[in-house]
Amino acid sequence: MPKKLHIKTYGCQMNVYDSERMAGLLARHGYAHVADPAAADLVILNTCHIREKAAEKVYSELGRLRLVREERRAAGGGDLQLVVAGCVAQAEGRAMLERAPFVDVVVGPQTYHRLPELLARRTRDKGGQLDTDFPVESKFDLLPVSAEPSPISAFLTIQEGCDKFCTFCVVPYTRGAEESRPVAAVLAEAEQLVARGAREITLLGQNVNAYHGDGPDGRPWSLGRLIRELAAIDGLWRLRYTTSHPRDMDDELIDAHAEVPALMPFLHLPVQSGSDRVLQAMNRGYTAADFERIVERLRAVRPDIALSSDFITGFPGESDADFEATMDLVRRVGFAQAFSFKYSPRPGTPGAVMPQQVKDSVRAERLARLQTLLEAQAAAFIAKTVGLTLPVLFERPGRHPGQLVGRTPYLQAVHVDAPSSMLGTMQVVAITEAFPHSLAGRLADHPAADQPSADDPYTRATEGSARGPAQPEETFA
Ligand code: 5AD
Ligand code: SF4
Repeated sequence: MPKKLHIKTYGCQMNVYDSERMAGLLARHGYAHVADPAAADLVILNTCHIREKAAEKVYSELGRLRLVREERRAAGGGDLQLVVAGCVAQAEGRAMLERAPFVDVVVGPQTYHRLPELLARRTRDKGGQLDTDFPVESKFDLLPVSAEPSPISAFLTIQEGCDKFCTFCVVPYTRGAEESRPVAAVLAEAEQLVARGAREITLLGQNVNAYHGDGPDGRPWSLGRLIRELAAIDGLWRLRYTTSHPRDMDDELIDAHAEVPALMPFLHLPVQSGSDRVLQAMNRGYTAADFERIVERLRAVRPDIALSSDFITGFPGESDADFEATMDLVRRVGFAQAFSFKYSPRPGTPGAVMPQQVKDSVRAERLARLQTLLEAQAAAFIAKTVGLTLPVLFERPGRHPGQLVGRTPYLQAVHVDAPSSMLGTMQVVAITEAFPHSLAGRLADHPAADQPSADDPYTRATEGSARGPAQPEETFA
């Protein structure tokens, strides 16, 4: 009987990718994934530390799982092993084993390739195991790629860590220094994903556009160059990347948006604030005008590009005028979708000890005002999509029989009545209706677009016609 594994993933897409890799690794050690944690022999919480009370939430989840374990033992059932992985594990380290000694393994994001060994050691030596090193060996070299079919839209981590030290952010402390995977490793993994059915790949990194992996020519390659190379993989129709930092939007990457048809016209580019004073205090390294110039250049080469961003309200020292500057920037730029947060002081970051902390009520008020504006922009943007005909890559069955769900180039989910044989294909869809977070459409009357081939990698049904919203995911940078 295979052992049963359940992984609960919090936070950003990098954690989603890490969870997939952990599942792949443990599959080799006889674990099959199950949807129900109560049925599992091993539960992994892959945690996120970006916002307040993250650790407290993990401890209460652990408390619940401990009860499941005790009930199971009392009933004479098998054991339930508990692993905490990800950024809370990294940040808490030994403190977690002290506060929750019933946890079997605490493992950071850089060392989960050692999980089988840690679990075995736990069984042998009894005590809870801790591994939050930043090892010299790369986990990527040691992780087997799963033999399972790939998702039609797959994630591929190409870069990790961050050296930018924005004064509000814990990432540089939990994920460590910036590191890029070599070009050859990225290409090999992308080819494997495509061979196993992926048609879209989203390149991931905390600072993905700071990518500078070693190229086959012995020189570091930029993200723009890597994207051009990836786009040549036969059968790979769509490319995306997230999350980017405005400071690293170089010409090669901006030009890729003009020249690489597979590169989708949607970009998540966190600005955080529209006030130069606040941006400086955040250590972001650009001004509002710099950001707007980047947007201008992007729109010049790809007029239909849809923009998404992150915002923080009530950073220490933010005045009413600073906040109004953020509102003005949003009005000027126009976002297809966005994530906004009230500032949360994270222990260990410079922001947490800055004078002039903004009152919580003011942070919340500003957040509400900003969200009203951003939501109105997002709604206008979705509404604009209705009536368009867009290429949709069908990724999964819908909730209702006979229905498929896919995405437009602008990352909008679309529900369409379509035969399951169309799963994994790209079809032209007429968008008929907009909902708050998705669209409905029907297969267009004219013949379905040919599947893209190597020399005609992508058929764009509409050009320069729409900007669109995205899925609610957390991201970094
Ligand atoms: N407080 C509020 N928001 C934060 N983010 C990161 N750290 C904090 C914090 N301390 C937000 C940023 C980032 C997104 C992933 O989370 O907007 O881009
Ligand atoms: Fe790095 Fe992004 Fe965090 Fe800034 S917000 S420190 S760029 S991960």
